[in-house]
Amino acid sequence: MLVVPHFELVFTIPISRSKSKCKMETQMEMVAPPLNPTSARPAVTAALMAETGLDEAVLRRLVHRFYAKVRDDRWLGPIFAARIVDWPPHLERMVTFWSSVALMTGQYHGRPVPAHTSLPIEVAHFDRWLALFRATAEETCTPAGAAHLMERAERIAHSLHIAVVSAQGCPAAPPKLF
Ligand code: HEM
Repeated sequence: MLVVPHFELVFTIPISRSKSKCKMETQMEMVAPPLNPTSARPAVTAALMAETGLDEAVLRRLVHRFYAKVRDDRWLGPIFAARIVDWPPHLERMVTFWSSVALMTGQYHGRPVPAHTSLPIEVAHFDRWLALFRATAEETCTPAGAAHLMERAERIAHSLHIAVVSAQGCPAAPPKLF
């Protein structure tokens, strides 16, 4: 077996018998590159990749394009600008997040809820976030991949919204009892 970058060349040698001698036919087939990100559950990740067409490269493109739109957006841009000064680590973090969420790789280790509860956001910001995310997913992924991502994004946005509303109604300061 000869391994070249990104493609595996697999030779299969079927042997057909003629009257007096063995005839060997060599066939060469290209096997799709694995592009399987480091995963705590490689079999699950491989199945999800096959089902959705998503892989590390697609998720990276999605994350970079999405945050380019977010940074340009008149509603969301200023909220991110006030919190994020160093963008490359945030983008890397978000690639691991989507890799964990969409492909179950277990790469992300963080706490999204506290990152959002002190932000000046309400339901309209979540709607805008989801609209930009949907547009980006449709541009960068297969229809199955975009649907897979949107189902998860909507569920997480809903949970984050509940956490934000609850935090806004329960400020950290102790309540006045009298
Ligand atoms: C109203 C829309 C949203 C806004 C304005 C927003 C804004 C932000 C900001 C400013 C940060 C950086 C926080 C910091 O480092 O101080 C952040 C982090 C993050 N956001 Fe959002 N976000 C929104 C919705 C979402 C949604 C819907 C998701 C998931 C589907 C999400 C996932 C994350 C994650 C995973 C982090 C990194 C948390 C960490 O590990 O530090 N966000 N977000």
